[in-house]
Amino acid sequence: MADPKLQRPAAEALYADELERLVAADGDAPRPGGWRLTPRGVLKFILGDEGLGIRGKFVGSRSFLERCVVALATNRGLMLIGEPGTAKSYLSELLAAAISGDSTLTIQGSAGTTEDNIKYSWNYALLLAEGPSERSLVPAPIYRGMAAGQIVRFEEITRCPLEIQDTLLSILSDRLMSVPELPENADRTLYARVGFNVIATANTRDRGVNEMSAALKRRFNFETVQPIADLAREMELVQREANRLLEQAQVPVSLGPDLTEVLVTTFHELRRGQTTDGHSLEALSTVMSTAEAVSVGYAAGLHAYYYDGGALAPDHLVQSLVGSAIKDTAEDLKKLRHYFNHVVRERRGKSWQGYYAARHHLD
Ligand SMILES: Nc1ncnc2c1ncn2[C@@H]1O[C@H](COP(=O)(O)OP(=O)(O)OP(=O)(O)O)[C@@H](O)[C@H]1O
Ligand SMILES: [Mg+2]
Repeated sequence: MADPKLQRPAAEALYADELERLVAADGDAPRPGGWRLTPRGVLKFILGDEGLGIRGKFVGSRSFLERCVVALATNRGLMLIGEPGTAKSYLSELLAAAISGDSTLTIQGSAGTTEDNIKYSWNYALLLAEGPSERSLVPAPIYRGMAAGQIVRFEEITRCPLEIQDTLLSILSDRLMSVPELPENADRTLYARVGFNVIATANTRDRGVNEMSAALKRRFNFETVQPIADLAREMELVQREANRLLEQAQVPVSLGPDLTEVLVTTFHELRRGQTTDGHSLEALSTVMSTAEAVSVGYAAGLHAYYYDGGALAPDHLVQSLVGSAIKDTAEDLKKLRHYFNHVVRERRGKSWQGYYAARHHLD
């Protein structure tokens, strides 16, 4: 059982019972070396399985997920690219939890990421006392993943300087890491065990994927994570996730179907630059991601609970929308106002009308 005091337990702790059932159901069916589940089992964990009582977690096409899973069984890594908030990180966490039972071997890529963060560093007290040894070596995620035969996650890899990205080159092709500092009689080469591989994520809005060297690109299978195309499935997901967060925060408020429809339709339409009945709109420059829609629903619920006696109303949605979605430009606010004045205004139903009535929060 995951500790209820933790803000966000790792997937393998949160879904420990599901993983246990899947391992049992897989029995000794064939699977890639070092994997805890079969490729079929991995897919059931991510997409859900009624018979085994497994919750669906990621909304996406089965063939896309099959390709991702297969990529991880090859001798290349998996690179998930896409717009912000399309659940690249979430998917890589689920894959690592299902395949290795551990999603915590994670490197967070940034301008300040160093080779030490990727391979290993030293415990300086021990280093001074005993010199370099296996005891004084502090393994970083890649080292640990290679030694244990596990999946390592590399988040936002394109934010790292090129020379740091290139640290992965020999690791991914030769599947070994040398530790030249160790004394001669020690094992200076670490060979990766079966089961080791890397899932990297990269955001197409930030510094480009183009800034990855051709050599590194060749060592990954690229898969693009698309925003959820189907409005009904997006609504289902946003409602479920926002309510799960509210429940976890012990806030007895829930986002109902009507408000979910209003919220998700807004995001969906502004993201695509088109209304559901085919009229074109000016798309916002802010990313109107599903992840943001979940945050808006969650914040609106908290707002209703703490300030308005728990009655979640369209007004709360508009207020949260301003803070969480419209981050970038005054231009976006203008487009949003236009959306309210031309699209929302024409919509029938109490929730849409209440939403329109709350448009003064956009002024
Ligand atoms: N297709 C999807 N299936 C399930 N959840 C999704 C999906 N798209 C978005 N989400 C929501 O987005 C949240 C995860 O966003 P995550 O941080 O993984 O996105 P990201 O693509 O890594 O974004 P960033 O590029 O900003 O790092 C999930 O917790 C979920 O609520
Ligand atoms: Mg991410």
